[in-house]
Amino acid sequence: MYRTHTCGELRKENIGEKVTLSGWVQLKRDKGGMIWIDLRDRYGITQLAAERTQTDSKLIEKIDNVNREYVIQIRGEVIERYSKNDKIPTGDIEIKIEELNVLSESETPPFTIIDNTDGGDELRMKYRYLDIRRNPVREALLLRHRMAQEVRKYLDNNNFVEVETPYLIKSTPEGARDFVVPSRMNPGEFYALPQSPQQYKQLLMVAGMDRYFQIVKCFRDEDLRADRQPEFTQIDCEMSFVEQNDVLYIFEGMVKYLFKTVKGIEINDKFPCMPYSEAMEKYGNDKPDIRFGMTITDITKNVKGKNFPVFDSAEYIGGICLKNGSEYTRKQLDALTDFVKMPQIGAKGLVYCRYNIDGTLKSSVDKFYNENDLLDFANKMQSEKGDLILILAGDKESTLHALSELRLKLANETGLRPKDTFAPLWVVEFPLLEWNEESQRFHAKHHPFTSPFDEDITLFKTDPGKIRAKAYDLVINGVEIGGGSIRIFNKELQETMFQNLGFTREEAENQFGFLMNAFKYGPPPHGGIAFGFDRLCSLFGGSDSIRDFIAFPKNNAGRDVMSNSPSEISKEQLDELGIKIK
Ligand code: AMO
Repeated sequence: MYRTHTCGELRKENIGEKVTLSGWVQLKRDKGGMIWIDLRDRYGITQLAAERTQTDSKLIEKIDNVNREYVIQIRGEVIERYSKNDKIPTGDIEIKIEELNVLSESETPPFTIIDNTDGGDELRMKYRYLDIRRNPVREALLLRHRMAQEVRKYLDNNNFVEVETPYLIKSTPEGARDFVVPSRMNPGEFYALPQSPQQYKQLLMVAGMDRYFQIVKCFRDEDLRADRQPEFTQIDCEMSFVEQNDVLYIFEGMVKYLFKTVKGIEINDKFPCMPYSEAMEKYGNDKPDIRFGMTITDITKNVKGKNFPVFDSAEYIGGICLKNGSEYTRKQLDALTDFVKMPQIGAKGLVYCRYNIDGTLKSSVDKFYNENDLLDFANKMQSEKGDLILILAGDKESTLHALSELRLKLANETGLRPKDTFAPLWVVEFPLLEWNEESQRFHAKHHPFTSPFDEDITLFKTDPGKIRAKAYDLVINGVEIGGGSIRIFNKELQETMFQNLGFTREEAENQFGFLMNAFKYGPPPHGGIAFGFDRLCSLFGGSDSIRDFIAFPKNNAGRDVMSNSPSEISKEQLDELGIKIK
């Protein structure tokens, strides 16, 4: 028997018991005739002790030879600790070592396995199995496990059936690039890895499964960020005989259930719904963090005609107002200006106006606007004494984007985005179609099977860009946690949709033929949603990076630095697949 207890188990009540423990040596301290070892396993740390003068010399020799990260097994008696450690649950006791076996030795690890480690990101990814020994990473994986269990419980209780769908599928575009897999048995042909099981889950509705879910890997070859990985996990769901509100109701329930069971947070209120157009106008993006105000005000009409060329020539001028920000220093304002001018933010410059506590107004455009003008802006923006007004101008789309980024930056800097408060929001009424300048045609904003609003269908003939979709995103704290839609199940409507997307019948048949075929045999009304499980975990765990919640993540270049993949394959493999590298 390797152990009678785990390293997180023993308490005062166990004093006097003879126990056997196994685990890793976290730390060894040798002081004034006493040797202590912190023994670690998944469950915690237990202190081991040996007194040099009172311990058999062979045992002392064994203890002396033990180093960090050795795996050892010890037998001994649970005794009360002289100096207690109230930071760990086993802190009242220690084990007086009577026997020790080295189960396996360890080289000195490349970084220290403690909470605040000295290891950099890449190094820790390379030795991820050592990183997972650390509390924060292990706890992140345990949280993920708990959440997956609770998701399954909730969905099972609500009649959802977990069905696995294939990973080797026909390439069906979802918006990103596919990862493709060559087929040896079908030379020159390729499978794609699913960007999501979208079409399979719709087929399962045609198949009468009624309610489907799957916690499933999805693969997208896109540029990576803190909240994006090339392979990530969705909680993917689909339901039959539902309208949008039915879907929102069930999944709002799931999110509330998770908050309650995993974080102990009770959310009683209905999640607010915000139309996409409002999110864009007021927050400058479709995933607003609504925990704080600082909303965007359109002042285009108020500021023109004073000979300030930047404003006079701009399509759009918008401002935000930072409460109690009038004391921002010149240096801070310069830093904000540099920030908005970064290429990814894209503004040309930043106009500021301090609404001082004494009621005076001072701006960077005093040459063109007198105090009365400035007061007008301030009033329009519902600004008060002590506030800082920040204004950007340019074309509407990019100015709103820049204002949104500026708003988030200011909120981050002033502590308005704490990790432990949560504000869920449904963003609804997305546009069905999006004009693409490059291809000079409409693309589906969500995917081609998303249903338009019934009352907007006539707009296909007159103004397709204005058609609203029965699509919805769940946003929490400015993160897009999930998205879905009610699907088209009517053949004529589907054809209209394909026509508007510029697909010929053959192209549509070629790409989506199997789904269209299935729709000949009685598709039920249906709709669904998919949640980014990694994002949900990192939100619950209070981290900005989903990597922390993935056991073996890829780096920003899409590489697994531990196994060093992707990697070249042998000539024989290439030949067998009939592939030549260009
Ligand atoms: P969508 O493309 O919006 O919808 O994806 C659903 C959710 O998955 C998460 N997500 C990602 N997480 C990590 N890394 C990525 N690269 C990544 N891409 C997406 C997001 C997102 O909200 N089939 C549809 C769903 C449906 O219509 O039912 C779909 O995949 O949190």
